[in-house]
Amino acid sequence: MSKKTEHIAIIGGGIIGLGIGWQLVRRGAKVTIYEKGEIGKEASWVAGGMLAPYAEVSFEEIKLMRFGEQSLNMYPRLLDELSEDTENVPVLDSCGTLMAGIDRDDTEKLKRLCEFRKELKLDVKMVTGTEAREREPLLSPNVVSGLWLPDDAQIDNRKLLKAMKKAFEKMGGMVKDHTKVEEVEIKGEAVMSVISEEETYAADRVVVAAGCWSQQLAGIPGQQLPPIRPEKGQIITMEKTDDCQLKGIIRSPRMYLVPKEDGTLRLGATAEEQGFDKRPTAGAQKELLEHAWEMVPAIYELPLVETVAGLRPAGKDHRPIIGESDISGLYYATGHYRHGIMLMPLTVYALVDEILDEEVSDWLAPFRPQRFNAN
Ligand code: GLY
Repeated sequence: MSKKTEHIAIIGGGIIGLGIGWQLVRRGAKVTIYEKGEIGKEASWVAGGMLAPYAEVSFEEIKLMRFGEQSLNMYPRLLDELSEDTENVPVLDSCGTLMAGIDRDDTEKLKRLCEFRKELKLDVKMVTGTEAREREPLLSPNVVSGLWLPDDAQIDNRKLLKAMKKAFEKMGGMVKDHTKVEEVEIKGEAVMSVISEEETYAADRVVVAAGCWSQQLAGIPGQQLPPIRPEKGQIITMEKTDDCQLKGIIRSPRMYLVPKEDGTLRLGATAEEQGFDKRPTAGAQKELLEHAWEMVPAIYELPLVETVAGLRPAGKDHRPIIGESDISGLYYATGHYRHGIMLMPLTVYALVDEILDEEVSDWLAPFRPQRFNAN
């Protein structure tokens, strides 16, 4: 059978599952996405939409930063293809990140981040408080230092999710939302079907893109399950007013603010270990608002639109898990942690090549599921 006529089931309709499904149907495969809730309404919806490999890289994550950089470079191709398939496609906003510091402690942190990035030959610059305000006039007079990262970008992740769902369906993909997969049926080391409350769907291949729920699938032997836990992140959405327009992403060590294309401003995010509890809390919301107000006092007057929490899929080593598992035909694309929106294009293009052409991309080498086998 040609790979393109195979039936592929994707478990999880977030940005990763949708992206893989859309690219697979674009290349002629028959795809059904199973989503236990609403398509695109979990972690991908709650994300800030930052495509910021240079701001977000930490000292031990250079491979992840390079993966993010390559993925960001693939966004223009992905958005062009999306525009061929549907309307209302978001723009890639190459706005850069301005990291701001308010005291000596923050400034020392920014200096360390700057030095590390310079060692990696990234385009990065320390600026004074005055220079930071020239770039972003709404920054508080108390801001004393900044780190400017011109190559970061952002996108309206919610608009992107809606466009990708439309494109997937338009190209012939099938969405089964509010449909929980109860079991992945495996026989003789090969995947056979996915079993939901409603039906058994014979699948030649199955992709697990179920975020922090990826470890909960019956049928997959325990040692083969991706080791993922939920990390709660609360955000706040405000309405931008004429008096409070930001030019790009503002970060401090305690929060980020991202102006969105739909006229809102997104403020994030907490990082909490609360199991699967997604309820926003008063204390965390108060702290986020205080941290944002400290950097940008003008947010004080903004109307609140929404407070919401999502569950980041955090792997054991905080790296994504991408590729075919030891069970033939069973693929993982999960564990994208804080970076699902940024890492989506490369994850999607590389995994779709692996599924349809059996080409394993070098980009995926550090992120294969097999790295957990010996542990
Ligand atoms: N990448 C931003 C967050 O996880 O909050």
